[in-house]
Amino acid sequence: MTSTTRSALRSVPAGPALREAEAKGSSLLAAVRAGLSASPKTLPAALLYDDLGSALFEAITLLPEYEVTRADLRLLEARAAEVGALLPGADVVELGPGAGNKAKLFLERFAAGRPLRFSAIDVSEAALRDCRRTVEQLPNVTVATTQGRYLEGLREVMAARRPGVPVLALFLGSNLSNFTRDEAQAFLTSIRALLREGDGLLLATDLDKPASQLIPAYDDAVGVTAAFNKNLLARLNRELDADFDVGAFRHEARWSASARRVEMHLVATRALDATLGVTGDVFHFEQGESLWTESSHRFRTDELQRWGLQAGFTTAAQWTDARWAFAHTLFRVQSGAES
Ligand code: AVI
Repeated sequence: MTSTTRSALRSVPAGPALREAEAKGSSLLAAVRAGLSASPKTLPAALLYDDLGSALFEAITLLPEYEVTRADLRLLEARAAEVGALLPGADVVELGPGAGNKAKLFLERFAAGRPLRFSAIDVSEAALRDCRRTVEQLPNVTVATTQGRYLEGLREVMAARRPGVPVLALFLGSNLSNFTRDEAQAFLTSIRALLREGDGLLLATDLDKPASQLIPAYDDAVGVTAAFNKNLLARLNRELDADFDVGAFRHEARWSASARRVEMHLVATRALDATLGVTGDVFHFEQGESLWTESSHRFRTDELQRWGLQAGFTTAAQWTDARWAFAHTLFRVQSGAES
């Protein structure tokens, strides 16, 4: 049962702790206050990725139940040379490269030793440092990094592109899954608007599959995904001086057949209050009430092609993995298209 009527938002005078929190992370505070006041309670999935959350996500990619990353790597390994043949001479930019392992695997085969410029865009400085270290191991690849959000970073990279050299953008890891479907379509349109004729976008997405395969991927036997989810509350305790009793919440992965998505929730196992120390706001949870922390959508190959077309791309190729329903779709900006 969700009840927010008793989520009393108690205001206290703004003290030094609040001013410090506002200076350091007003966007975090604003997002948390808005999300915990909403009905049902929800928090943006992006908040899962502090340093510990990012490390836990890396551990998720190694879980036997989470085949998403391995399917992505298999396709990158198998198809990079074909992508290279379809976009000869292109420079590459990756949105959200993490530690750069996928980029390294891909570029080795895509470029096959020819010189190229690789640009990495990420909000995390640590990720960009790791990515640079990984990709710089490749001979003939010059690495540039841009710290920032995907589209702002892409705009910057495109403004500094090499004249006459096509660009291939990579958006891998099924990161599109964590957008709503409307946001995903709008995102493709925004990427297309920043590309020019002859450029491409390689999009990696997890596909529809039975809930019996998906639920274990988001509720693994070892409990790594549960820790990833609960770390969000621990993060609020650390950064906003909150007092969530993390042990009083249970991780739950739910499949929504109508929305075709896995939802991650934190369910209160007893009625409790949690206070944000920096503001004094008190949020009440009924027993069984959930805090919705992430949605992970699944896609169909035809739906992705349709979205690409609507965004102004043509589909140059689409490959699927034989072991786990996962697709790489290569979109092109066709000749004669307005840029
Ligand atoms: C990053 N993203 C694509 C992952 C996913 O599968 O939606 C995040 C994740 N959440 C729980 N497990 C993995």
